[in-house]
Amino acid sequence: MSIWTPSSWREKPVLQQPTYPDMEALNRVEKDLRSYPPLVFAGEARNLKKQLGDVANGKAFLLQGGDCAESFSEFSATNIRDSFKVMMQMAVVMTFAGGLPVVKVGRMGGQFAKPRSSDTETIGDVTLPSYRGDIINSVEFTEEGRQPDPRRMIEAYHQSTATLNLLRAFATGGMADLHQVHKWNLDFAHQSKVASKYEELAEQISQSLEFMDACGVNSSTFRTLRETDFYTSHEALLLPYEEAFTRQDSLTGDWYDVSAHMLWIGDRTRQLDGAHVEFMRGIHNPIGIKAGPSMDPDDLIKLINTLNPENEAGRLNVIVRMGADKVGDHLPALIRAVEKEGQKVVWSCDPMHGNTIKSSTSYKTRPVDSILSEMKQFFQVHKAEGTHAGGVHLEMTGKNVTECVGGRFRVTDEDLSSRYHTHCDPRLNADQSLELAFLIADTLKAATH
Ligand code: PEP
Ligand code: CO
Repeated sequence: MSIWTPSSWREKPVLQQPTYPDMEALNRVEKDLRSYPPLVFAGEARNLKKQLGDVANGKAFLLQGGDCAESFSEFSATNIRDSFKVMMQMAVVMTFAGGLPVVKVGRMGGQFAKPRSSDTETIGDVTLPSYRGDIINSVEFTEEGRQPDPRRMIEAYHQSTATLNLLRAFATGGMADLHQVHKWNLDFAHQSKVASKYEELAEQISQSLEFMDACGVNSSTFRTLRETDFYTSHEALLLPYEEAFTRQDSLTGDWYDVSAHMLWIGDRTRQLDGAHVEFMRGIHNPIGIKAGPSMDPDDLIKLINTLNPENEAGRLNVIVRMGADKVGDHLPALIRAVEKEGQKVVWSCDPMHGNTIKSSTSYKTRPVDSILSEMKQFFQVHKAEGTHAGGVHLEMTGKNVTECVGGRFRVTDEDLSSRYHTHCDPRLNADQSLELAFLIADTLKAATH
């Protein structure tokens, strides 16, 4: 294999990149980005890798979730806080009811670039470049808005630093203290059935904490009661940006992409000889690879050998996103191939991207029933194969949006228009996310007890 450098991807065919009109401007931005401080420290990425190693070995569960695409316009402390709270709620449900520690990774603090099925979008008789995420161009359907602008990378970087700063403050500054378990319920969620179920569980936890306090175990004596580890991740799609943040760790000499703790390769850019795989093979972060219905078992084996040649547990997460109607047919062959090779991976389930449909009211949506069904089948297949269903990868938000249809809180096709805010794919709202967490908890419990 040829020598890897942070820029060796430039020698390979590259998909899903914008065409910048002004190369000078792009070069200037890349130069600036290279001098900016990292968003994360390599040691943190190593800690995450270690925790994902526990997931690969069946001793923990991965919860990865957040926006499909972060946006400049929806950037606010409230949104970050509410997404953080829902993730905490889900994690506590899975830990308490499911009995496994949960590794929390946000699709946050850098999840801006989007792959698109078409390079252009046509409305009426106007054709313009597709929206590729706020780090590249604007969602606004105008000539100017859709022009890729490299300076957006600088804005995305600054927004990511502020997001990460707040997430770190929440994780260690008191918000994540287990004694706050009641406060993680979001105001609007108080009415629903699933929120009451959460309240019951929170009450049980509070009682356990009182007992532990009487035994001298409390937030001041135990860090894990008071703080949590919360990691960030995004799709490493826009390679000039990722390259600019690829730095050599001063402790180990290894290269890390310090724009996030974990990065993943999308289903559209996972070609073995392509630029994205080339870039990702050289960084030492934990990484993910999406596996859609077109993933062939032999190709998966080759990809794993390229991306994780030392077979390090926790390095590679295979994120399966088949769709409820395909996962039962496709997943067993992938698992068997990987098991046969003795490759250590984290298997996680993205029940979102294979279940996107158009509603009767013309919105892009996802039926909660299909999401739950893919999830259940994912667990069933792993049980049948004797492997560990290691995690979930979700598009979700703490906001009370109406983007996915169904769930106990019944969002109908007609409701979609009332609070449909996503810039890209439809997300689970807080109630729907919590409902899913309870389902996962039951399944985990059945699998581990
Ligand atoms: C995504 O995660 O938003 C995405 C585009 O996924 P995939 O690559 O699986 O289609
Ligand atoms: Co998406």
